[in-house]
Formats: sequence, structure tokens, C-alpha cells
Amino acid sequence: MAFTCRPARRADLSDCTLVWYSAVDDYMARLGRPLPSPRLDPLLALMDHLLLTDPERFLVATRPAPAGAPTGRAELVVGFGIAARREHIWFLSQLYVLPSEQNHGIGRALLTRLMPPIHAAEPDVNPAALVLATCTDTVQPSSTGLYSRFGMVPRVPILNLVGTPGVRSQFAPLPAGVHAVALLGPEAAAAVDAIDRATLGYAHQPDHAYLRASGRTGFVYISADGTPLGYGYSSEAGRFGPVAVLDEALTESVLGHLTTAIMPRGATTVWVPGDNEKAMLALLRAGLRVEGFPAMIAWTQPFAAFDRYIPAGLALL
Ligand SMILES: CC(C)(COP(=O)(O)OP(=O)(O)OC[C@H]1O[C@@H](n2cnc3c(N)ncnc32)[C@H](O)[C@@H]1OP(=O)(O)O)[C@@H](O)C(=O)NCCC(=O)NCCS
Repeated sequence: MAFTCRPARRADLSDCTLVWYSAVDDYMARLGRPLPSPRLDPLLALMDHLLLTDPERFLVATRPAPAGAPTGRAELVVGFGIAARREHIWFLSQLYVLPSEQNHGIGRALLTRLMPPIHAAEPDVNPAALVLATCTDTVQPSSTGLYSRFGMVPRVPILNLVGTPGVRSQFAPLPAGVHAVALLGPEAAAAVDAIDRATLGYAHQPDHAYLRASGRTGFVYISADGTPLGYGYSSEAGRFGPVAVLDEALTESVLGHLTTAIMPRGATTVWVPGDNEKAMLALLRAGLRVEGFPAMIAWTQPFAAFDRYIPAGLALL
């Protein structure tokens, strides 16, 4: 039966979270690691944010509901995809299809409709400079194969470190004269934009606002002469990142400051790119452990300095 791709509406979001849960649980269960009961509120909040920032890049795939379906709906959401466009970066945040509907072309159809017209000139962007990027699971050959067909080839592993930093004294202190200030207000925004462009490759203020609204607390690190050197976020819920530093030598002390400034209620969880050797070593030494399977950051062209940047997560860098 034919499927249709259309822009998502707010009313579709809870269906999308259920597609996400079914799709991930299906392949994790086959690996002996089924998902725990869904706690979908954070995912719903992220989808809500992306629907606001990228309404034309959030699509659902639907099929007509069978006659007499108990939901009383005319259509069923069988898949969805979301891309976030930030300056010259097009980032595929999510692409999921119900297990019973996979391998029938729905994922590819969503992906191609989400993609920028890279061969057609856009008024604001040199098409050659437009970068496509995403994160893909190491245990999902179909997504990795599909994304690679479009040039988004996995380049850097990204590992989930989880735990309670028990040995905080292992972290070097902030260098003399460097101090942390709360990441708030327009002055901080200008500093953060500059740091983001020098590390992540693009500025993304709307995402910073969303991270703060969803409970992350940020700090900017300033030198004695007032120069912003980096920023970082942590949260009481244990979600850690993003963290960006202009000089990798500052990584360990910034991580040390964040782990003491914010005390999570439970474990801390952070996705660390394999390129970020300083963060990997500091967090492992402090007692965090590698959890589950790594993911991979994939791109068409290099765009970020992951040795100096720790993303907010896999669905939003
Ligand atoms: C990944 C996913 C979105 C793809 O959607 P789908 O509807 O199953 O995909 P399609 O049928 O359109 O295409 C599947 C593609 O994977 C390719 N593929 C499958 N297995 C592959 C393998 N082992 N190696 C290389 N490519 C592979 C197929 O060849 C096909 O590509 P093609 O159209 O170029 O031939 C879907 O399978 C899914 O939701 N999986 C579980 C969740 C997930 O992993 N999401 C991505 C998170 S990183």
C-alpha cells in the first residue's frame, strides 16, 4: 500500500516518539538489550524544538489507516525524519521507520525529501560549502549504508560514557585567572557564537536556548584579560554537554569545573567523540564507564573540531 510523506504537525509528535521507541527497541532487542519502558518526554521536547526551528525539515511518512481502525484516524504514522539546518550545516537528527515497514523504501524517501537541493543554487549558500552530517549507530547497517550512499560516511566514533565522577580530584583545576560565569545574556551569546564557529563550525543560539529551557546549566570560561576561552553545560538530570574549548589543554579543567558546579541526582551521561582524547581520558579516570555500543559521526565534508567539542547528544550536536 502506498505511503505519503508530508510535513509533521504538533499532533504527530507523540506518534513519532512511538515510532522511535519501536524502531530502536526492535534492533536493540535482537542484540539482547531491549529498551527499558519508554520515558519519552525528553524526546518529545526535542521534537517540539526541532519542529519550531525546522518545520520544513520535519516529515512524517503515513499510510491510510485500515477501515474500522480503533483509533478512528484516517492515517497512521509509519516513519519520520528530522533535519536541522544551522548555517552551512544540514544535520540529520532522526530517521526512524516502524519495524514492520522497514526495507520498503520509506527511509530513503523521507531522507531524499529532507535533503537540501545541493545541486541547485540556494540564495544564501554556496552549494559546494553545504555539509551534510549525522550520527549513526554502529549496530545498524541499514542506516549506515543508507547515509553513506549520500556521502555521509562514518568518520569518527562517539562513545557514551556513564557514571558518577568519583575521583574529582583527578581533574586539573582551572588555570590561574580563568573563571566561570553563568551562560546568560547577549554578551555570553556573542562569546558562545564565536566559540561555536571555532569548534563546532557553526553558531546555533536556538539550540542553546532549548538546552537551557530543558534543564541544562551553562558556563562560559573567561581568561584574566576577559577573553572567552570555552563554554560547557551540565544538568541535575545528568545530561552533560555540549562542551567547547578553543584550546584542548583546557578540556580537563572545564570538565572538572562542570562536574563539581552541578551535582546530578543520579549518573552523568555524556557522548564523547573518539577524537576528544583529553575528555575520554579525564572522564574515564574520574570513574565513568563506556556504556552500550558506540555510534559514529558521519559527514560529507569535515566541519567540526571534535577534539575540542563534546556534543549535547546524538540527535543535536
Ligand atoms: C534506518 C531506517 C530509518 C531505514 O528506513 P527503511 O525504510 O528501512 O529504509 P529503506 O528501505 O528506504 O532503505 C534501506 C537502505 O539500507 C540499505 N541497506 C540495508 N542493509 C544494508 C547493509 N547491510 N549495508 C549497506 N546498505 C544496507 C539498503 O540497500 C537500502 O538502501 P538503497 O535504497 O540505497 O538500496 C530504518 O531501517 C529504521 O528505522 N531502523 C531502525 C532505527 C535506526 O537505525 N534509525 C537510524 C538511527 S541512526
